[in-house]
Amino acid sequence: MTHYFTNNWENIQNFQARPDDILIATYPKAGTTWVSLILDLLYFGKTAPERQTSIPIEHRVPFLEINIPSMFQGIDMAENLPTSPRLIKTHFPVQFVPKSFWEQNCKVVYVARNAKDNMVSFFHFDRMNMAEPEPGEWNNYFHRFMEGKMVFGSWYDHVNNWWKKKQTYSNIHYMFYEDMIEDTGREIDKLCSFLGLSPSAEEKKQITGGVQFDNMKKNDMVNHCTIPIMDFKISPFMRKGKVGDWKNHFTVAQNEEFEEDYKKKMKDLTLEFRTEI
Ligand code: A3P
Repeated sequence: MTHYFTNNWENIQNFQARPDDILIATYPKAGTTWVSLILDLLYFGKTAPERQTSIPIEHRVPFLEINIPSMFQGIDMAENLPTSPRLIKTHFPVQFVPKSFWEQNCKVVYVARNAKDNMVSFFHFDRMNMAEPEPGEWNNYFHRFMEGKMVFGSWYDHVNNWWKKKQTYSNIHYMFYEDMIEDTGREIDKLCSFLGLSPSAEEKKQITGGVQFDNMKKNDMVNHCTIPIMDFKISPFMRKGKVGDWKNHFTVAQNEEFEEDYKKKMKDLTLEFRTEI
């Protein structure tokens, strides 16, 4: 973790969730913004369409644990949300989620992305985001990711421990980035049945179109161009949006090393990822 996420630890841990809060939980770069926009549109697209053109997504769906003075105070932003439900984002490993979310039996949408693409996306994000540690050279980063020495810790622990949580806490919808790429409409249908929503066919069509990569990339209310600590000249936030970009970064030797290590770390065979579709 970095101080941006630990500075306000006690207040974050004591955050008071409400029963209808919806927590969007992810390892960084797994498709958080994509799912945040889908949820925001599902809940408020029809009743408060002006949100879409006036409030950047990071204000509509606050990042619970962020604390960058004079820029983002996640818990204040969450506490001041006028909406019901409140949509709240977190990158916390499951054990750090404030306990009131569990006590209130809040719905949780968890999104996971295959490790290889997640690593590549995180690398480029760390290059362009001034609040992140410098990624350094790719081969070192590659090893650091496998060792779990990342902001928010090990990808392997994150996806596995959230997966385990789902076995004992039924209000988690565990989704995969790759499934969203394969068929966004189908994944929105599954989300709706989890959330108990039934948008019209027309609404669903509009949402599915609005959240396609190219549309989000040119939408300044969701592409993060308003966040001053991100340097799009280095790399845009909406970068590629693909499954399989890892093939442009991993050498053959790195891929072999990665696969060998992956087998040792990912023992739960019920949790399967696709690295190409
Ligand atoms: P890439 O860097 O691989 O392009 P997060 O929101 O969790 O930070 O995740 C960001 C990643 O999700 C980026 O991946 C971004 O391009 C991708 N992404 C965001 N919206 C997307 C969309 N509508 N379709 C596909 N990928 C999307």
